[in-house]
Amino acid sequence: MDREQWGTRWGFILAAVGSAIGLGNIWRFPYVAYKNGGGAFLIPYIFALLTTGLSFVALEFVIGKKYRGSAPLSFFRINRHMEFVGWWQFAISFVIMTYYSVILGWSASYIGFSATQAWGTDTKAFFFDSYLHVLPGASITNFGGVEWRVLIPLLVIWIVTLGISYRGIKKGIEIVSKIAIPTLVVLFLVFVVRAVTMQGSELGLNAFFQPQWDQMLNPEIWKAAYSQIFYSLSLAMGIMITYSSYLPRKTDTTNNAFIAAFSNSSFELLAGIGIFAALGFMAYNSGVEVKDLAAGGIGLVFVVLPEIINQLPLPQVFGTVFFLCLLIAGITSLISLLEVCISAAKEKFGWDRHRSVMVVGGLATVVSFAYATHGGMYLLDVVDNFVNGFGVLPSAVVEIALVLWVFRQMKPLMEEANRYSQIRLGNYFKISLGLITPVMLVIILFSSLVSNIQTVYGGYPVDFVALFGWGVILLMLVFAVLVARVPWKDKSVLSKKEEKE
Ligand code: PFF
Repeated sequence: MDREQWGTRWGFILAAVGSAIGLGNIWRFPYVAYKNGGGAFLIPYIFALLTTGLSFVALEFVIGKKYRGSAPLSFFRINRHMEFVGWWQFAISFVIMTYYSVILGWSASYIGFSATQAWGTDTKAFFFDSYLHVLPGASITNFGGVEWRVLIPLLVIWIVTLGISYRGIKKGIEIVSKIAIPTLVVLFLVFVVRAVTMQGSELGLNAFFQPQWDQMLNPEIWKAAYSQIFYSLSLAMGIMITYSSYLPRKTDTTNNAFIAAFSNSSFELLAGIGIFAALGFMAYNSGVEVKDLAAGGIGLVFVVLPEIINQLPLPQVFGTVFFLCLLIAGITSLISLLEVCISAAKEKFGWDRHRSVMVVGGLATVVSFAYATHGGMYLLDVVDNFVNGFGVLPSAVVEIALVLWVFRQMKPLMEEANRYSQIRLGNYFKISLGLITPVMLVIILFSSLVSNIQTVYGGYPVDFVALFGWGVILLMLVFAVLVARVPWKDKSVLSKKEEKE
């Protein structure tokens, strides 16, 4: 069977950028940057982008293109003992998409709420109490009922996403990315221009860019910068390997990696500017300091922005534009997370795309209902923190250690990349990826392990964090090891090693 392929080079780049630009850029980056020292955060962030982000994207692109398989198959083709890493990344993508879709469901609801500013004046009470009906505390035995106002938009998100995946790479993902990404950029520019031209915007921008140098030696800031780079560039979870496995053999992957990484970070900075300018406007209007507005992650977008929107002329337009941006950015990322799982299941079990979409997508849809309950918010917070901290980062370390060190792929992969690219991977790539990245990641992981053992995450009950934090991590590992032992349905995919064009 011929492997599906992207129709054009730009189709691939836009899909990869579509995966990278997501909730991480608009919702997560601004508050993470602010929480971690504003301008001081930008230095570790740029360091992480230049030493890890760029090289890691280049690595994953060339792995996918050379080995031409889903993450488990590509790793299997490097060495059969590496297959489990692919399933681990499958599990990470699967778990992330179960809650990522829920935040998109909220965004869809908020597009509707924008029409009338249904959130009223107390936007916080509206989000937590009137809309989500969040229970007073987290408990493993009580999740409350299902919240229909979340479940229905969530179902719509899944129907759209599965529909796109069902149509395949060229007719589904590529077409949607080609339309969605330019639309997103234009709409988002409308938001940013409006935000920076509001009175008081400079208050927010100062808060965002003003460096706090004393914070630079704080390991937490470095951890935040590295996690943000992995999250934002969709790395170490099989996405970029899967997408590049649909490239023609003669593609220049290094150049594409640079374009994708820089586009993503530019968009991210733009989002920071837009959101903080808007916060500045609100601080100016209400006399509250920016730092008191910027608290909280989820709250920033669903609580503070509606409050800002309330104070604007033509609030309907501004609200709709903003939440539409969030939705478009998120859907193109959700598709990429799903593609990791679809392509892996397809190859392992010999299913066709349609069956794989129905089974894997159906399962993810059902699991995502858990977050549409009244206790779902707590679950989302814990799972998100653990999967990113203790799923993605270790997966990155293991991927580097096995691919580059144990199975000695540095040279062949560099040769493969350099054969088709004018940007040559050389010593910089070797040192940044083979040395700086793993050293930084191990230090970060160790310090975050210590702090998570010393204090229970987020002040939740211990059993809640044990089950949905550590328990989920353990389950993902067990899953990966077990599935890697299941034989491949069609053994011929394995023998090809590197598939021909
Ligand atoms: N890179 C996308 C984002 O920034 O939202 C999608 C994403 C992938 C988010 C993987 C989180 C994640 F762990």
